[in-house]
Amino acid sequence: MVQRSSRFDLSTKLLSWWYNQKNKLIKNIRVQDFFARFPITSRVARKEGEAIFQLMTGFVDTQILFTFVKSGALRHLEAGSLSIEELSDKIGINIKSTEILCRAGYALGFVRLKSKKIFLARRGALILSLPGMMELIEHHSIFYADLLDPISFFRGEKETKLSKFWPYVFGQAESLDSVDVSRYSDLMSKSQFMVARDTIASIKVRKDTKWLDVGGGSGAFAKELVNKHSSLKISVFDIPGSSAENQPHKFIPGSFFTDQIPTGFDTVSCIRVLYDHDDQTVFDLLTKIYSSLPVGGRIVISEPMLGELSPNKWGDTYFATYTYAMKTGKTRSPSQVSELLEKIGFSKIKIFPSRRPFVTTVIEAYKN
Ligand SMILES: C[S@@+](CC[C@H](N)C(=O)[O-])C[C@H]1O[C@@H](n2cnc3c(N)ncnc32)[C@H](O)[C@@H]1O
Repeated sequence: MVQRSSRFDLSTKLLSWWYNQKNKLIKNIRVQDFFARFPITSRVARKEGEAIFQLMTGFVDTQILFTFVKSGALRHLEAGSLSIEELSDKIGINIKSTEILCRAGYALGFVRLKSKKIFLARRGALILSLPGMMELIEHHSIFYADLLDPISFFRGEKETKLSKFWPYVFGQAESLDSVDVSRYSDLMSKSQFMVARDTIASIKVRKDTKWLDVGGGSGAFAKELVNKHSSLKISVFDIPGSSAENQPHKFIPGSFFTDQIPTGFDTVSCIRVLYDHDDQTVFDLLTKIYSSLPVGGRIVISEPMLGELSPNKWGDTYFATYTYAMKTGKTRSPSQVSELLEKIGFSKIKIFPSRRPFVTTVIEAYKN
């Protein structure tokens, strides 16, 4: 034991020495000038410079995107190309500012400027066409406001606006008013489309499966599942008021904080549910799901996760910070989720390679 820890100390010391030497070299202006003379090293240096600039200015990019969405500029351009003057008139922003916005939008790929007209570019068209994307962009104003003072945000000193936006995470289902529930249900169901597609494409679904979607909200995932597998029997378990009209699923109202998970299902899914909650809540929920399943029953978990071997931009930067802002949330890595499943007794745990890790990662496991 002692020997292992001294070997560990040595490799940490070596690593520290290596990083110190390397960073000393990189910070040396003469060394930078020297490397700038050679094609390969100068390309690396330029890329690093661009990356630092991008890190510093990313907030400006998001605000330009936000303005295009919130002012209605993208929607107006969807109807056809406009001159700067026409767009300025439609979005209520003066001509000089509209021109600045349009050049920025061109640089960021939402629009094109040609023959004194502004056209919607491919990226702009995609933003308009992806279900829920416009709403997701708009709701980020709350998150940006929480991040205005990032030091006190990360010190946890501030009450965040995001924790108010997702009030169910505190477990007070009965105190939620219907406006709250429908506001977040709407955002979730619109943005569910891509998550559902990637989830359904990853797993195998038997025709006769009796499926329960826990925290299934208004049933957007259930609907996609039935669209793909029409013979499937699917129920949604969620807090009262989350159900939408005219859905193909049966709605079972309840809270996994206080109620048991309904039985009689051979697959139970949690789509974008775990990352809203702390470890204890997730452990209790997964334990309840385990108890509700028959032997051979399956759990399917699908949500954005941390990068496994190395941290990544979407999981470790965006989703981890977002769920932290919710106060009760936590973005986990596939192996952290798998460890929880294993601890509870699930087996044959499978982490599917993610098609779009910024959308979701899917894990399935079985009850022995
Ligand atoms: C982030 S939303 C995800 C909704 C849906 N699965 C999706 O991906 O679009 C989390 C869902 O969990 C539900 N939920 C939260 N707490 C719950 C509880 N205690 N019992 C049942 N459902 C709950 C919420 O109402 C909400 O529909």
